Amino acid sequence: MAKRLFVKTYGCQMNVYDSARMADVLAPLGYGPADHAEEADMVILNTCHIREKAAEKVFSELGRLRKIKTARAEAGQRMILAVAGCVAQAEGEEILRRAPFVDIVLGPQTYHRLPEMVAQAARAGGAVLDTEFPAEPKFDFLPEPLAQGSSAFLSVQEGCDKFCTFCVVPYTRGAEYSRPATAILAEAAKLAQGGVREITLLGQNVNGWHGDEGWGLGRLIRALAEVPGVERLRYTTSHPRDMDDELIRAHAELPQLMPFLHLPVQSGSDRILAAMNRGHDRDTYLRLVDRLKSVCPDLALSSDFIVGFPGESDADFEASMDLIRQVGFVQTYSFKYSPRPGTPAAAMDQQVPEPVKDERLAQVQALLMEQTTRFNHSCVGREMRVLLDRPGRHAGQLLGRSPYMQPVHVKAAAHLIGTVVNLRITKVHPNSLEAIPA
Ligand code: 5AD
Ligand code: SF4
Repeated sequence: MAKRLFVKTYGCQMNVYDSARMADVLAPLGYGPADHAEEADMVILNTCHIREKAAEKVFSELGRLRKIKTARAEAGQRMILAVAGCVAQAEGEEILRRAPFVDIVLGPQTYHRLPEMVAQAARAGGAVLDTEFPAEPKFDFLPEPLAQGSSAFLSVQEGCDKFCTFCVVPYTRGAEYSRPATAILAEAAKLAQGGVREITLLGQNVNGWHGDEGWGLGRLIRALAEVPGVERLRYTTSHPRDMDDELIRAHAELPQLMPFLHLPVQSGSDRILAAMNRGHDRDTYLRLVDRLKSVCPDLALSSDFIVGFPGESDADFEASMDLIRQVGFVQTYSFKYSPRPGTPAAAMDQQVPEPVKDERLAQVQALLMEQTTRFNHSCVGREMRVLLDRPGRHAGQLLGRSPYMQPVHVKAAAHLIGTVVNLRITKVHPNSLEAIPA
């Protein structure tokens, strides 16, 4: 009998990709998608550990799922409950201690073993814990991805060796690993055959990707642009230290590479950048932005910022505000610093008081919002290539994405779904742009 799987995903795009791949791994076991946990034979929480309260959120969700699991058991139906992702990696033992009704705890590097874990959980009845960093890369054991829609993620690189002092990723995702170019090109070809037109390359340090024969990400993107059917390419998240000449050249020369780059700087203060162990200073970042914009004048940038890192003074914070004004970002994420257990910054003196962090976050978010709004308004009257990827909310309307990831809606026929069309932007709505055929 068909079984149903419900996956709840927290956190980054890498987790979104992993959730889809976990569903691919379980499909041969007869699992199809469920819309709610209530009707699922298996539930996976794919968790994120990057900021505070993530673990608490997981425990409260587990409390809710426990009731559903019990109700199903009373009706004679089993529910396998699995916790995956970075909280599982960091706090696996703790999860099993506090939530003994969980059947499987698995880290981000072992989900190719899910079928064995499911079998083991069914046999033993006890919990299965697998948070190893196995020698064999999981990618070698995953089935081919099922293409869904016209836009897809493709994981090319994972893990991180940079050890920014605030970040848990090097501990939860493990050491840097780059998939071979041949495997990536084959996966891209499969996706394109399945109707995918836009591929976003994913990696914690995606531009740290390196292949055989000295290939870097710029070279890989050049090869991907040749894959029949692939019309648009993006990559995220990049580190300023790994933006090499070849990648910058790709922005200049490849029309398939979208002119939108997420290039987190985190802070505009040299003192804080050094304490964060970012490996570059403010000036290096600004010069990099200048170079990118000089080869690709319509390039738009986004970034992540952390406010209230230990020791951040008013002057340091002002330096971040100043950098934001100087660069002009189009869509940016800002966070209050949150001490992550086991990271160097959590043990630093001079933790910034919470009310100061709140105040700085409000200021930085107001400025970033102003910049996003200004950018959106500057798009009115412009012609843009938009990938139409689904029906809109109203009849006769389609929804797509601009090169800058803005949602765009337009009156158009349904057969245009999955195509890139030329549109003229006519209006800005709170969460989208409106357009007409150009
Ligand atoms: N506190 C606050 N923000 C963090 N980030 C990563 N670790 C922390 C932390 N401890 C942010 C960074 C990163 C984004 C994914 O999350 O800005 O780029
Ligand atoms: Fe974390 Fe820094 Fe690695 Fe990004 S580069 S994943 S912020 S340690």
